[in-house]
Amino acid sequence: MKHLRVIQIGYGTVGGAVIEQILAHREQWRRQLHLDVSLVAFGGRDGAVCVDVDHGVSDEACRDGVRERREGGRPAGTTTSWDAVIYQAAAEGHTVVLDAAAGSETATHDVLALEEGAGVVLSNKAPLALPWSDPRAQVLWSQARSNGHLRYEATVGAGLPVISTLHTLLDTGDTMREITGMLSGTFGAIFSDVASGTSFASAVRTAKEAGFTEPDPRDDLSGLDVARKALILARSCGHQVDLSGIAVRSFVPDALADVSIDAFLDGLEGMNDEIAELASGATASGGVLKYVAAVNAGGEVSVGLQGVSTSTVLGALTGPENVVSFRTERYDDYPTVVSGPGAGAAVTAAGMVGDMLRLGMMLG
Ligand SMILES: NC(=O)c1ccc[n+]([C@@H]2O[C@H](COP(=O)([O-])OP(=O)(O)OC[C@H]3O[C@@H](n4cnc5c(N)ncnc54)[C@H](OP(=O)(O)O)[C@@H]3O)[C@@H](O)[C@H]2O)c1
Repeated sequence: MKHLRVIQIGYGTVGGAVIEQILAHREQWRRQLHLDVSLVAFGGRDGAVCVDVDHGVSDEACRDGVRERREGGRPAGTTTSWDAVIYQAAAEGHTVVLDAAAGSETATHDVLALEEGAGVVLSNKAPLALPWSDPRAQVLWSQARSNGHLRYEATVGAGLPVISTLHTLLDTGDTMREITGMLSGTFGAIFSDVASGTSFASAVRTAKEAGFTEPDPRDDLSGLDVARKALILARSCGHQVDLSGIAVRSFVPDALADVSIDAFLDGLEGMNDEIAELASGATASGGVLKYVAAVNAGGEVSVGLQGVSTSTVLGALTGPENVVSFRTERYDDYPTVVSGPGAGAAVTAAGMVGDMLRLGMMLG
């Protein structure tokens, strides 16, 4: 039986669901995979709690910690620095760090884990989107391959097999010609409504009310999240692109960047005419307006509005689903397509847990 120590950075929506999945399924992994997974530490910006590298923490302590945070509190227990926990666990044996935090600060912990021989699994896109000039980006990307110690399936399309499909295509010697994708459930929902005649500002309000946007819709409408995903796809193909080199269509004008959320939503009315005109232009040419990320064979990345023919997989998609289409030398006339829900706690957590298990079985 192989023993795998797991350190969970970030225990919000995704990290909390990862903890629940580990506690629910580790007995099955012992039986079927001969992998004994123990959660040795978890926590957030305050540091790591419930550290017990020798014996693992009790299931109840973990569940209580997740519940406490959801209810606005903090879990009981001493807080330790992430670095101390990583050093200790990695010295003890096989270790995987799961980064379900937000922002690039955790990149330092991820790099330390790799340097100490541990595996790293990310749903957090920001570390992988650091500029190439940042040495941490180079360490992380040097391990981001099929047999490397860094896995990041959940960063694009949540639990959908987007990154693993891409790696398989490239590992088997195929040549990428183009990747196109709708990588945001929020934009999917908004532009489906716009296609049925709703004004852009009303579509944004409806998406917010349905829970498809972040609490502040600007976090989605800036396009940054989609740009990071497109960057990750391009870098996975070996292109040394930076976020600063990507043309991104943002729906957050400077004048609305710092106003209240209500004022922002009101201010979007000013874009209604432009977007209605683009939508009717797309309809007139047999298509539909979509927010599309594209990476071409040369590594150029674009993120913005496009009229897409309704006879294509991308054009036919409605609602918040994600879709990624890989057009390669082997899959040219009929691209390989991955689609389904691209966000949500359970599916994103499952993407991370799948990566964790594969790493756990590989480390040795
Ligand atoms: N939600 C989804 O459907 C989804 C899908 C794909 C990818 N993702 C990505 O997965 C990540 C987590 O998403 P979420 O929805 O779970 O977010 P969330 O609910 O806001 O939770 C974020 C967690 O990360 C912790 N954190 C933030 N900055 C940190 C830092 N510098 N050091 C240590 N911990 C830090 C927070 O700590 P505190 O507890 O101290 O606040 C919190 O526990 C994000 O990067 C997101 O983009 C999410």
